[in-house]
Amino acid sequence: MAHVELRNLEKRYDNDAHAVKGVTLSARDGEFVVLVGPSGCGKTTTLRMVAGLEEITSGDLFIDGERMNDREPKDRDVAMVFQNYALYPHMTVFENMAFPLKMRKVPKAQIKIQVEDAAKLLGMDKHLKKKPKELSGGERQRVAVGRAIVRKPKVFLFDEPLSNLDAALRTQMRAELKRLQRSLGATMLYVTHDQVEAMTMGDKIAVMNKGELEQFGTPSEIYERPATVFVARFLGSPAMNVLPGGIIHEPGESYFVSDMLKIKLNGHFEAGNVHLGIRPEAIVLEWESKGTDSISGKLILIEPIGSVTHYYIECEDAFGGTFVASVPHGPVTLAGATLSLGDSVTFRIPSESIHLFDRQSGKRMD
Ligand SMILES: Nc1ncnc2c1ncn2[C@@H]1O[C@H](COP(=O)(O)OP(=O)(O)OP(=O)(O)O)[C@@H](O)[C@H]1O
Ligand SMILES: [Mg+2]
Repeated sequence: MAHVELRNLEKRYDNDAHAVKGVTLSARDGEFVVLVGPSGCGKTTTLRMVAGLEEITSGDLFIDGERMNDREPKDRDVAMVFQNYALYPHMTVFENMAFPLKMRKVPKAQIKIQVEDAAKLLGMDKHLKKKPKELSGGERQRVAVGRAIVRKPKVFLFDEPLSNLDAALRTQMRAELKRLQRSLGATMLYVTHDQVEAMTMGDKIAVMNKGELEQFGTPSEIYERPATVFVARFLGSPAMNVLPGGIIHEPGESYFVSDMLKIKLNGHFEAGNVHLGIRPEAIVLEWESKGTDSISGKLILIEPIGSVTHYYIECEDAFGGTFVASVPHGPVTLAGATLSLGDSVTFRIPSESIHLFDRQSGKRMD
C-alpha cells in the first residue's frame, strides 16, 4: 500500500486561525495511525490537508516518497470517510458503493466485481438492493466504509467515522474496522477524540493539542511515558492524578516535596518547580500513614465499575485536591474493615510509578 509522511505541516486559515502548527509524523505501509485530541485541536484540518481538500500553508506531504502538496485530491489515491458520511438516500446500497467508481468511468462489469468484493468483505452482500433508510446505523456505516474501499486506494482517511453510533455498536465497529484494515493491509489515518478508540485501534497514536503534535508513539509508549502533562491527563481513565510541588536535593538524593509529601526519587533530577503525576492504578491504599510518601484524606466517592473500583479521596495536602485510586475488584478491606464513604484513608505514592513534568513547559523530565 503506502507510506505517508507529514513534515512540518502547517495550516493558517484566511481568518488567521493557526489550526495546525508544524506537525511531523509518518504512517508506514499498512500502519494504523490515530490522530487524537480535544475538539478544535486541528485533527480534521490535518486530515483534509492529506486528502487535498485543504491547501497546505507550509511543510511537505509525501506519499510513497512523492511530494503531494500540489496534487489534485483525485490524483493522490486516498479515500476519506467523514464524520457525517452522507449516503444518497434515493440510491441502493450497490449504487452508493458504486458511485466513486462510476465517477471515474470504470466499466460496468468491473464496478460489479469491485462492489461485490467490498460488500462481501463488509458482510453487506445481502443488502445490496436496499435503500439507506432500510438499514441499521451500523449497516449504513459499513456502506460509507464500502464506498471508500471499492476504489482500493493507497491510503484511507477516517474522520470520526463512529461518532454517530451508540456505544455498543461503536465497540463492534471498532473491532470490525481494525480487522478490515488488517485484511486490506491498508495504511490508515484515523481521527477520533475518543481516547479508548485511540488506545485500542492505533498501531501509533498522534496526540494533538491546540494545533501542535504533543506526542507520536505506540499506545504503550504514550501511556507509560507521556511526553507532556497534557498527554498524561488526556489518555487514561480516570485521568492521571497531578500534584504541583518541587524537587529538592539532599546529599546524594533528589526528592519531590509538596505540602505534606516527601518522596525520594529514583535517579537525579534538576531542582525546580514540577508537576508530579501518578496513575490511579499505581496508588496504594493504606489504613494509616507509614512514611513521608503517603498522604491522608477523606473518601468522598466510591465508583464500582465492575472489574475495578475507583476511590476518590479529598486529600489534606494544600495543593493536592482530589486524588483517584483504582483498585481491581472491590470493595477494598484494610485490616479487615471495609472502606466506606467519609472514612479517613491514607494512600501511598510509590516512587517507581511517578511521572515528573517541568511545571513551566509541561514536558516530561527523565
Ligand atoms: N474553514 C475554516 N476556516 C477558518 N478556521 C477554521 C476552518 N476550519 C477549521 N477552522 C479552525 O481551525 C481549528 C481546528 O479545527 P479542526 O476542525 O481541524 O479541529 P478538530 O480537531 O477536527 O475538532 P473536532 O474534534 O471538533 O472535529 C479550529 O480552531 C477551527 O475553528
Ligand atoms: Mg474534526
